[in-house]
Amino acid sequence: MTQKEPTVNPETIQRVRQSWAQVTPIASQAAELFYANLFAADPTLRPLFRSDLTAQGHKLIQMLDAAVNGLDDLEALVPPLQALARRHSGYGVLPAHYATVGAALLLTLEQGLGPAFTQPVRAAWTEVYGRVADVMIAAGQPSAA
Ligand code: HEM
Repeated sequence: MTQKEPTVNPETIQRVRQSWAQVTPIASQAAELFYANLFAADPTLRPLFRSDLTAQGHKLIQMLDAAVNGLDDLEALVPPLQALARRHSGYGVLPAHYATVGAALLLTLEQGLGPAFTQPVRAAWTEVYGRVADVMIAAGQPSAA
């Protein structure tokens, strides 16, 4: 998601939305699974999370929900994502952590969706998470305005 490429292909949007609609009814289990996957991948991330993970998981799902709903107008998502990224720097999150979180998210979707997590669905999520992460990484740098 850059200023130069403000749109996401409609097929990608549809794939992300359809698969996300299958995850939201099991959001709390998905959040639990996500944190298990994340801390298995990198146990050093555990201490960064200070608040109750149930509430935290809920916030993560809400934010992803907002991102999925906002895919038609990525420009509008940029300012809230930049603010989110600056808060993340304050939580001790480093640029490299975004890849770890992305991998944990994809694994969670794969586990939650099973056969519905097809290769095109994976590619769609990889693109969308990558765009969100790019905006956050750029805004989370100390030099960023
Ligand atoms: C697409 C990427 C991400 C999204 C949408 C996201 C979303 C959120 C949201 C909505 C919150 C609630 C607090 C707030 O709004 O400031 C939060 C907190 C947090 N996130 Fe993220 N996040 C993302 C990436 C990451 C990454 C890469 C890490 C690295 C480990 C991370 C670690 C944390 C931590 C440590 C907190 C604070 C937890 C606490 O206080 O217990 N997040 N995140």
